[in-house]
Amino acid sequence: MDTIEKSKVDEIEDTGVKEPVFMPEDSATIDRENRATVGEVFVDNPRMSCRDVNVHYGENHAIHDVNLDIGCNEVIAMIGPSGCGKSTFLRCLNRMNDTIEGCKVSGSIIMDGEEINSKKIDVVPLRAQVSMVFQKPNPFPKSIYENVAFGPRIHGLANNKVELDEIVVTSLEKAGLWNEVKDRLDKPGTGLSGGQQQRLCIARTIAVGPEVILMDEPCSALDPIATARIEDLIDELRTQFTICIVTHSMQQAARVSQRTAYFHLGDLIEVGDTTKIFTNPKHQLTEDYITGRFG
Ligand SMILES: Nc1ncnc2c1ncn2[C@@H]1O[C@H](COP(=O)(O)OP(=O)(O)OP(=O)(O)O)[C@@H](O)[C@H]1O
Ligand SMILES: [Mg+2]
Repeated sequence: MDTIEKSKVDEIEDTGVKEPVFMPEDSATIDRENRATVGEVFVDNPRMSCRDVNVHYGENHAIHDVNLDIGCNEVIAMIGPSGCGKSTFLRCLNRMNDTIEGCKVSGSIIMDGEEINSKKIDVVPLRAQVSMVFQKPNPFPKSIYENVAFGPRIHGLANNKVELDEIVVTSLEKAGLWNEVKDRLDKPGTGLSGGQQQRLCIARTIAVGPEVILMDEPCSALDPIATARIEDLIDELRTQFTICIVTHSMQQAARVSQRTAYFHLGDLIEVGDTTKIFTNPKHQLTEDYITGRFG
């Protein structure tokens, strides 16, 4: 937050529009030529490089020719009106769209020199490496301990109980939950508060040793205090992981991310330094969105 020009963020807040509703008639007036991405698409030493990524759900062309590098140890926020393709694009990053019938992804996504869209890629280890935290906290109907131990056990990450215990403790510590649950590890994960459940899900994600953590509106079901804890956590996790977060809250994007990507009707319109996107956007569509108006 301190890197963001406070008055500008207040200005965004003042509009009272957190989730602008996109009116389809607005799109008719927007020339497709104006949809080429502006801003800093490329970074030095990217963690992931997406090139010409397209996604179709049957006839619906949901993502158009997206090019985007995702940097190491950065938090990149994906913003844009409802239905613009944020979740669809996020799911491209760990092949989660494979699970949706009729969904076709094309283009290239390179991570650690490997093409993740290749048929040869085993998606199970990929989804441990690029792991997802969902909108609604979804702990397994198991104990707190088992929620975190489950992933490392199926991925064979621990050789014995001592090692497994260590992974569980470290993951809960990194997720900022250890002190609250250390005396009740055998109690059900579903018995925690919403914010604690979401931190448990983050611990579960961390436990499988990811490089990239995908978060799709991770705070939308949480109150402001639980949200603030997750936002602080995201900032701490950035030192070890790359985080891609989808959010409807521009204040949240401004607080937690270093880069922001603005999507509009399946196009990546603009990407760049978060401060610049919110204080001096280059594209008219970005400006319209962050000021709460379209057209
Ligand atoms: N499982 C699916 N099956 C068919 N079409 C889908 C599916 N998921 C998304 N779509 C379509 O793809 C487009 C992008 O949707 P997506 O959910 O990625 O948008 P979003 O930006 O995440 O929206 P929101 O902010 O409402 O979550 C929309 O036209 C949507 O109807
Ligand atoms: Mg979504």
